[in-house]
Amino acid sequence: MSAIADLRRLTTPQDLFQAAAEEVIRLATEAVAQRGRFTIALSGGSTPKNLYTLIAANASATLPWAQMFFFWGDERHVSLDDPESNYRMAREALLSKVPIPPGNVFPIPAEKEDAAAAAEAYEQTVRKFFSLASGEFPHFDLVLLGMGPDGHTASLFPETAALQEKSRLVVANWVEKMKAYRITLTLPVLNAARCVAFLVSGADKATVLKEVLEGSAPGEKYPSKLVRPTNGKLIWFLDRAAGSELSTAA
Ligand code: 6PG
Repeated sequence: MSAIADLRRLTTPQDLFQAAAEEVIRLATEAVAQRGRFTIALSGGSTPKNLYTLIAANASATLPWAQMFFFWGDERHVSLDDPESNYRMAREALLSKVPIPPGNVFPIPAEKEDAAAAAEAYEQTVRKFFSLASGEFPHFDLVLLGMGPDGHTASLFPETAALQEKSRLVVANWVEKMKAYRITLTLPVLNAARCVAFLVSGADKATVLKEVLEGSAPGEKYPSKLVRPTNGKLIWFLDRAAGSELSTAA
């Protein structure tokens, strides 16, 4: 039975990032206590940068970094030191500021010329790390996601091929409107996570958020709708501006 969305409605963007940081710290501490490690897939885009900065500032001494393992939900098809790189953003905002062992960080090898080869290589990295048998999906402790004004999440864009993927863990997804490939975890991986947390801030997301949480349009058109963890938690961290069109009052 897929997860009921847990809406965390905060007032300001800073409140949103504070609440999300507390949840990340709680989940990391719990996972390490229960399973000896915490596995997280980071989101790209601009919204999570503030969260990463906050965690680096407030939790660098308290989190069990040696037992934390960092992956990415998606990546642009650029080198890892490109200004567009999701890895670079997270490295600069968080990973370069905390005592994380370099071997605990698994960027998507998007510098590879062939995006499909980058996706295949990352799939092997994830399969090996989680010791997956054929047909098995990894259970990330936490997957962080953003949402675009078109309802895309990770690099699962409306009406793109990756939305149909049922068995691969990672694919290169051609995004016509960008005339570019993106490398992304697939829906089965997102929906196998123990917890998925969306971070959605700003009035420019209000209309699409209403559709995603309350509307009846198909998931093909609003891929964020297709993220429904099978046995995991689904949390939406919203600020007032993003939630301003929802029918339920904050
Ligand atoms: C990316 C992201 C993407 C992002 C949304 C929202 O690589 O861009 O993974 O899915 O989360 O586009 O982006 P903003 O946070 O910048 O609005």
